[in-house]
Amino acid sequence: MALRIPSMRLYAALSSPRPAVASSLYKRYASTSAAVANSNLPGALKNAIVKEASLPTPDPASSSQTARLVNDQLPYMVPTYVRPPPMFQKGEGCYLWDVENRRYLDFTAGIAVNALGHCDPEMAKLLGQQAQTLIHTSNLYHNPWTGTLSKLLIEKTTASGAMHTASKAFICNSGSEANEAAIKFARKVGKTIDPSGAKHEFVSFHNSFHGRTMGSLSATPNPKYQKPFSPMVPGFRYGTYNDIKGINDLVTESTCGVIIEPIQGEGGVNVATPEFLLALRNRCNEVGAILIYDEIQCGLSRTGQLWAHGALPKEAHPDILTTAKALGNGFPIGATIVNEAVATKIVTGDHGTTFGGNPLGARVAHHILSRLSDPELQKSVLEKEGVFRKHFQTLQQRFPDIITEVRGKGLILGLQLSQDPTPVVTAARERGLLIITCGTNTLRFVPPLIISETEIEQGMKILEDAMTAVFKNAESVEGTKGQQEM
Ligand SMILES: Cc1ncc(COP(=O)(O)O)c(C=O)c1O
Repeated sequence: MALRIPSMRLYAALSSPRPAVASSLYKRYASTSAAVANSNLPGALKNAIVKEASLPTPDPASSSQTARLVNDQLPYMVPTYVRPPPMFQKGEGCYLWDVENRRYLDFTAGIAVNALGHCDPEMAKLLGQQAQTLIHTSNLYHNPWTGTLSKLLIEKTTASGAMHTASKAFICNSGSEANEAAIKFARKVGKTIDPSGAKHEFVSFHNSFHGRTMGSLSATPNPKYQKPFSPMVPGFRYGTYNDIKGINDLVTESTCGVIIEPIQGEGGVNVATPEFLLALRNRCNEVGAILIYDEIQCGLSRTGQLWAHGALPKEAHPDILTTAKALGNGFPIGATIVNEAVATKIVTGDHGTTFGGNPLGARVAHHILSRLSDPELQKSVLEKEGVFRKHFQTLQQRFPDIITEVRGKGLILGLQLSQDPTPVVTAARERGLLIITCGTNTLRFVPPLIISETEIEQGMKILEDAMTAVFKNAESVEGTKGQQEM
């Protein structure tokens, strides 16, 4: 322990413009490294000490307080996730702190959730106020907030130039539930059009992600997620994203609904072409199928417009739009927005939820939506996209064989790598940056929308260092399992 250097300070100083401080710490680090190298300590221990001293946020060791807490808790948790070693206990803006009180810049925003950053003070205040006023009454009674949020969702959506037919909203608790409602509503419309029940088929696309409940999972054709729980709900068919030619065979008179992400998030930040969405809409019109846009990840101003499909002509707008994630900025809430043609087919008792739209969640979401729909924020998202893209270009010049493509829009961006990015994720985390992956070998950038230009620059500098360590210095950075398992 006597050899331990305050590694945060060392790292900050080494990248600091004040050379005097940097050089004094560097000398200490160099002498520490030399002392360790000349010691009789076992090789693995030497490496661990040097690594600890040279990184700002090395993954907590097996002897750490973090590891003790994790080992104490893990036996009681169903092992649905594999998590990297740090444990986060505090958040503010674009930063998270672990239980060792070390700071990380967050390019993940809780998977595109904390659009207004962590622990936004206004949101926290409002949560407290509403929690002291009314939290829950059930949907058996009126409350001031479920309807107010529904009204705002419709008003903001139609005013934004997206889904011009938006008319009513069903409020629920998550993305999967929002899609589950959408799937049920489309089936009900199909039953109304054709009471024989023949019009019940559903279409979704390869590499999509719509959720983990049985209906939304049936629309998510990833064998890894579906196989352990087969058989899926009957009647689901899968097509190729952006394949216009395949649409006519895929969507038929038996189709009641088609669900698609205008930008696939988990699938690798793949953007649907306007031509494809328009062709899909036209085919849905021909056969009387409901078109559902899942904007759970890409919506709520992440692309610089309230909804990712907002730039499309009216003729390509959906019948149903689903949202969740950023709607509560971390408070669990989702919504299924429908047009009149759908709404008129749904009657009392068709669908429901105990918690969905309770006064606490609905009031918070009302506040968050009001702020996320701010045109100034949306404009800044596009400016920040420019900053990211500028850095991506530099990175691509430095790693021309590794970075093969940049995809996405606004602040949902993907860097396609030619190699497994998990060692980069680990190396970045150990240098104080949280980043996630998606698709096949894609690094995904979904930071809080309030991120500053300076923070983007800091994060991209860390990412460059991490990629240099992994690909140029060929440091043996082991990719920690888990970053890609949602
Ligand atoms: C596009 C999309 N749809 C649906 C979901 C499911 O949302 P939830 O995890 O809130 O159920 C996700 C989650 O990642 C998503 O990205």
